[in-house]
Amino acid sequence: MSMNKEQWGSRVGLVFAMAGNAVGLGNFLRFPVQAIQNGGGSFIIPYLVSFLLMGIPLLLVEWSIGRFGGSFGHHATPFQLHRLNKRTIWKYIGVFGLFTNIAVAAYYCYLESWTITYVFHSVARTFQHMGSDEIANFFDSYVNLESNTVPILVWLLCLVLNTYILSKGLDGGVEKVAKIGMPLLILFGIFLAIKAFLIKGGEEGAINDGSVGMNFLWTPDFSSIWSAKVWLAAAGQIFFTLSLGMGSIHCYASYVSKNDDVALNGMSAGWMNEFVEVVLGSAILIPISVGYLGVDKVIELTKFGGLGLGFKTLPFLFEQWGPIMASFAGVFWFGLLFFAGITSSLAMGTPVMGFFMEEFNWKRRSSAWFFGLLIFVFGLPTVLFYKYGVFDEFDYWAGTVALVVFALFEIILFAWVFGMDKGWEEIKRGADIKLPGIFKFVIKYVTPIFLGVVFIGSLPGIWDKIINKDIYTKLSATNDPQLIHELNKTLMFVNGSRLLLVLLYAGICVVVYKAYRKNYVK
Ligand code: ALA
Repeated sequence: MSMNKEQWGSRVGLVFAMAGNAVGLGNFLRFPVQAIQNGGGSFIIPYLVSFLLMGIPLLLVEWSIGRFGGSFGHHATPFQLHRLNKRTIWKYIGVFGLFTNIAVAAYYCYLESWTITYVFHSVARTFQHMGSDEIANFFDSYVNLESNTVPILVWLLCLVLNTYILSKGLDGGVEKVAKIGMPLLILFGIFLAIKAFLIKGGEEGAINDGSVGMNFLWTPDFSSIWSAKVWLAAAGQIFFTLSLGMGSIHCYASYVSKNDDVALNGMSAGWMNEFVEVVLGSAILIPISVGYLGVDKVIELTKFGGLGLGFKTLPFLFEQWGPIMASFAGVFWFGLLFFAGITSSLAMGTPVMGFFMEEFNWKRRSSAWFFGLLIFVFGLPTVLFYKYGVFDEFDYWAGTVALVVFALFEIILFAWVFGMDKGWEEIKRGADIKLPGIFKFVIKYVTPIFLGVVFIGSLPGIWDKIINKDIYTKLSATNDPQLIHELNKTLMFVNGSRLLLVLLYAGICVVVYKAYRKNYVK
């Protein structure tokens, strides 16, 4: 095993990079749509409770595990968890921290590449004379690769860009991008939020004021506060948005010195993410859409997720602001999504690189290009077979289920196996803020129980997914041979994606085993 001597250039850089890791497409596309789908005002209470009882405690735990592992030279979770407890199982649970990053980056980079294309089209004024249906169709034919190979080329460009930045290292690459990208993103976001706020019903084709969407989103509605579905959605959003249960926080924190603060750093990055999500994330997509389309139409459109609204609808609505403002708004919106995306996908690359650098003595550049190759291999099916649900499968298993499973295991390991007394000392060491003692209790009891309940609550949904309930329901309801053919094809791709993900996990287990034999068995 070799010692990887990289360090963060500055504390500001670390907090920006960590916030960049968290602030992603989830803040601007996923959050508003989750909020709308789950009753607007009734979503925010479970969301905030999940942030306090699960988000903050897990941030503290992940930062501490990362810094602790880093003090032994481990930058990826398999051997970070191994340092907390030597039982064989933990190394292989730690595999999640590599698996999730590879699998999420595989589809995430494709999404990121769309934002580059849309920035280009905003400047080129492609959408100027298109109607709303045409703009929506433009997106569908783009992602389904119907018209040309441009989507594949832009995706490759995006992969190369990520890999190149990663090859420049932490302070020379990742930190620089975060320091430029995060402030720009916030600036773009503020501009769009103000513009959304100023929308006046009856002007420029708007039917509602910008405040109507905000009111809809934030008017408390307690009717669904006890719904398990709303709680699951809120908890899932907290995981995704904070990048918890992924292994990337552990990796960034592992480059912090042994006695440096993790408590204040963790809190700052977490709260910065929440500011961007709750304040900016809710002030753009929904108020603009509701301003021009009305609440009912927006509810209908969000049934199909945030991608539709963000890519199919907003470019058309921006056109209502006149050619110059439409270009600016397009560049700001898709530029903002690009920076949000790339600062997150870079974070997904670092644990994988760290692992190969320290366990197999690879050079930084080779590790970065190897990560790029992995993303190419696992991302290709999400690009080529997007319409058969491969992208969604990766998002569901790696971007949703795996996060909760890994977090559940790691908090049990940290609080119960490693022990909460030692764990609490780890969290407090070097802390620049005084953490209330109640957090010790919360981490030991409340968060694991909360997580366990969330996991058990999601089991019926996971089971339906495993047995492909949706697809079989559609199959049994149709006699149309064409549709039956398409659904069978989807089944094949869906099952194929799962097999691929299982192979990825198994493959990483083999590599971890080899590293263990090579470096730890005398
Ligand atoms: N936390 C990242 C996001 O919100 C993954 O997109």
